Amino acid sequence: MTIASAPGKFILFGEHAVVFGQPAIAVAIDLRCRTSLTRSNIGMMNGHPISEAQSSYVGTAIRSYWGAEPLSVNIASEIPSGSGLGSSAAVTCSTLAALHQLKDDFSEETVAREGFEVESQVQGRASPTDTSTSSHGKGIFIGSEKGPGCLWEISKDTRRWFVHHLDVPKLSVVVGYSGHKGATGPLVAKVKRYVDRSSFARDIIEEIGALTLEGAKLLKANDRSGLGSLMTKNHKLLAILGVSSPQIDKLVQASLPYSYGAKLTGAGGGGSMIALTDKVEKVCEAIKLRGGVPYVVHTGVEGVKVE
Ligand code: PMV
Repeated sequence: MTIASAPGKFILFGEHAVVFGQPAIAVAIDLRCRTSLTRSNIGMMNGHPISEAQSSYVGTAIRSYWGAEPLSVNIASEIPSGSGLGSSAAVTCSTLAALHQLKDDFSEETVAREGFEVESQVQGRASPTDTSTSSHGKGIFIGSEKGPGCLWEISKDTRRWFVHHLDVPKLSVVVGYSGHKGATGPLVAKVKRYVDRSSFARDIIEEIGALTLEGAKLLKANDRSGLGSLMTKNHKLLAILGVSSPQIDKLVQASLPYSYGAKLTGAGGGGSMIALTDKVEKVCEAIKLRGGVPYVVHTGVEGVKVE
């Protein structure tokens, strides 16, 4: 039997702007997905026959990178699915790592590249943010140009991303899940329509890009209050772009009195927000009181690994 695990993630700065070539920062968290694989007579997942509807990421990974020999797959994930915390990327990356371990050719970069292909096949359109963060762990900085610490370059059609390593200090962050995830595709399309029509929206995208570069410096310096105020500023800019929701705004407002800062994370339109805080209990309480589901997460964690 082979067991591999991979972490979930949140986006600290730059979601949506990254779609327009601006940088983004994503950070791995200490919620993991574990996949175990055993050669078997019939293809099974968690005791049931592998069906495309229930396990499209696992099914696609096996079909594309393994072949016909049947496998018994067991998935155990700590990452709430559909919350915007990268659960599908972690399932994909841990499955690919276990598959490659069986073939004796596991590497972080292979998992990042193939993970992106699997997500693209299943979702139709994806950026490598989630799968590269889940593969590398710690933090990543995605840019449209190659800089120091570049891990890999991933391209698709006319799009091209340079994924860089980013040192992330140990931070405690409370995630507040609003209860339902917004659909990434339509939200990305909505921002594109706004940006195509309005120079004001284009300025906001650029402002988010500048703020993300500043955020990379503050992370390096472990400047929590600086990071927090930048997060809150990033949230306001995302709200102007129209991707927040009343519930996410409520959770952000409720967290701010006990936090360095707070913002939505990921595509928005629901989904989750994050608060950077030393007062974890108080933030959890505030999120629960407003109807959200809190998760305390920690950063500075390893990426995909064979266990
Ligand atoms: O909600 P998530 O975790 O899938 O993040 C989407 C991030 C976007 O920037 C909105 C889209 C993308 O592909 O980068």
